[in-house]
Amino acid sequence: MQDKAFLNAGWYGPLPDVAAEAIRASIEAEYAHGRPIMSHIQAIREDKEALRREFAALLNAPPESVALTHHTTDGMNIVTLGFDWRPGDEVATTNLEHEAGFFPLYIIQQRFGVRINIADVGVGEEPLEAIAAALTPRTRLLSVSHVSYSSGARFPLEEVIALAHARGIPVLVDGAQSVGVFPVDVTALNVDYYAAPGQKWLCGPEGVGALYIRPDRLTELQPTYPNFNTIQTHDWQGRFTLNPTAVRYETGTIYPAVLAGMRASLRWFQEEVGAEWAYARIAHIAAYTRRKLAGLPGVRLVTPEKRQASLVNFLPVGWSAAQMAGLVAELDRRGFIIRSISHAPYCVRVSCGFYNTEAEIDGLCDALADVLAAGPEAVSIPDWAVQYNLATEPVY
Ligand SMILES: Cc1ncc(COP(=O)(O)O)c(C=O)c1O
Repeated sequence: MQDKAFLNAGWYGPLPDVAAEAIRASIEAEYAHGRPIMSHIQAIREDKEALRREFAALLNAPPESVALTHHTTDGMNIVTLGFDWRPGDEVATTNLEHEAGFFPLYIIQQRFGVRINIADVGVGEEPLEAIAAALTPRTRLLSVSHVSYSSGARFPLEEVIALAHARGIPVLVDGAQSVGVFPVDVTALNVDYYAAPGQKWLCGPEGVGALYIRPDRLTELQPTYPNFNTIQTHDWQGRFTLNPTAVRYETGTIYPAVLAGMRASLRWFQEEVGAEWAYARIAHIAAYTRRKLAGLPGVRLVTPEKRQASLVNFLPVGWSAAQMAGLVAELDRRGFIIRSISHAPYCVRVSCGFYNTEAEIDGLCDALADVLAAGPEAVSIPDWAVQYNLATEPVY
């Protein structure tokens, strides 16, 4: 944070000192005193239950409805693979989803003959009509992001949920770009399933996230990754009862250092930073970034203004996907960490955190203006973009 302007929390957030210290302390304690010691195991269990309560409080959910996961994608898989799919069933989603949403759908399409209806919502400015058209009498699930990682648009989730619920369709939400960006109240939303990461906007370590399952959905969704968390009682002969809470969906052990780090990050985010302040600050810095970027020649904003959250996505006009990767690498050399999106809508993305300053955004825009003025031919294409075969024709 001190060496560079870090503007990429949409990928991983920065880790606060308190979390780094908690992680270090946990690793050192295990190394010094050993791991499978009952008092230690008990302390880890307590840490895990405390983290569940803390995630639940953040999302305004009952703690029994929250499963701890390893990341957002875990949650998307737990829900998508937890249905008793039959050939001819349909799922709906949008063209703006992350692999975390899409890939579990690909698998149920291949494994069970489920049809995927993809609503083309453009960049997400007015998504409702296209989403409604993707819902049919055979649709059993709508899987959608709260905020699109590729266009930056914040979907009008209340209305999306109302559309689906009016047709009796449950909604699974990918909350990777929303939790820690603005308040998310899963109870008020009446959402069926909501998956969240720890490592992005909540500034936690990698390897932990949360999945909310609406309490009345617990009896419908099957556990796909059975392990010691899943079953409450059994007789070693195949008769069993499931854990009565969302714990039944958890996929296994979470590294204790990660639990400790995530707790420290969450405490810091809520108590020291102040979640409400962070949300307001993010909105402010994103609006500032929009205004500054809009003033640069050769920049076209991709994120619709009325759908703005913390991601400000833009297109450098006349640049190819490969050149955008080169632009990002050049800005990195100049001290500004952002990223490019290498598929439609091809663009460059600035993640605005509460810790970013107007001066950092001014610096980014000055550096960007300079790189844009030199033209796309002046940047070198990074090796990874060559390996990924990124297109070399201008996007627009
Ligand atoms: C919308 C969206 N969903 C899911 C993911 C994947 O997140 P995770 O690593 O927590 O599974 C990301 C980002 O990496 C994302 O932007």
